[in-house]
Amino acid sequence: MFPIHRPRRLRNSATLRRMVQENVVTTNDLIYPLFAIPGEGIAKEVRSMPGVYQLSVDKIVDEAKEVYDLGIPAIILFGIPETKDMEATGAWHDCGMIQKAATAVKEAVPGLVVIADTCLCEYTSHGHCGYLEVGDLTGRVLNDPTLELLKKTAVSQAKAGADVIAPSGMMDGFVQAIRAGLDEAGFEEIPILSYAAKYASSYYGPFRDAAESSPQFGDRRTYQMDPANSREAIKEIDLDVAEGADMLMVKPALAYMDVIWQVKQASNLPVAAYNVSGEYSMVKAAALNDWIDEKRVVIETLTSFKRAGADLILTYHAKDAARWLQG
Ligand code: PBG
Ligand code: ZN
Repeated sequence: MFPIHRPRRLRNSATLRRMVQENVVTTNDLIYPLFAIPGEGIAKEVRSMPGVYQLSVDKIVDEAKEVYDLGIPAIILFGIPETKDMEATGAWHDCGMIQKAATAVKEAVPGLVVIADTCLCEYTSHGHCGYLEVGDLTGRVLNDPTLELLKKTAVSQAKAGADVIAPSGMMDGFVQAIRAGLDEAGFEEIPILSYAAKYASSYYGPFRDAAESSPQFGDRRTYQMDPANSREAIKEIDLDVAEGADMLMVKPALAYMDVIWQVKQASNLPVAAYNVSGEYSMVKAAALNDWIDEKRVVIETLTSFKRAGADLILTYHAKDAARWLQG
């Protein structure tokens, strides 16, 4: 009698397959990134990210309504300021872009969760994620002075109405510093989604077009992680958990599925995967050439993040995926 086991038996009909399906992605899992720019009535498509726009605050509000109506529970906001300087003033100023956008969105769509990306790279004249010594041309960000600016940024974002603070600069101790800042300011109920294991990745290329945040010199390898390492991800996760993080993020996602899996095993916190700009742009480029079936590729990819252990997925495909999951 051969074979005894015939796994194909359970694949014989769509209904049977549905019954034994182990993982499923739903609209509840999705977080949609938005880029806020100064001005009014502006929607400027990002050259390297078809379907993604830099939006003025009024347009962000329209977009937030649409996102909410699609059943997507949250957006994450990035800001592109009018001017950049050494102190990243646009990041922590009460009239900063994220602050303005957060306030406007919460007023128009109170039910939508607004996550604020908390970093300095969009706001510094040199494009690094923290404070540099005057005259530094290597990009060695000064860790502890940066913590002070991040603290100020997070408090100002919370004051503006942000529901979740998401620090992304990979500074040592940033979760603890931000937690302390929020608590002192009376925001002890605001959770922190830490970009806990964030790699120095070339997949961020298109994002830097969208956020206008390319470093003017040097690179981010003195603060973001080496793509060769995974034990180090667990070290980062352990520290962020100890410092009081409420949720953990792995970024990028596609080339780091093993890290998502390990992070999921290593903690009890919700795990978010950031399906980053370069991952989006590759799919979009192939789809626009009719080389792949975009809908099926996207749903397969998002389902795979769930299989790897992601509870939440930040993705530029969120609106399309929400429509496809409905239909
Ligand atoms: C910056 C930041 C980056 C992303 C989110 N926040 C890029 C970087 O480190 O240069 C990348 C997002 C994406 O590629 O979609 N702190
Ligand atoms: Zn940054």
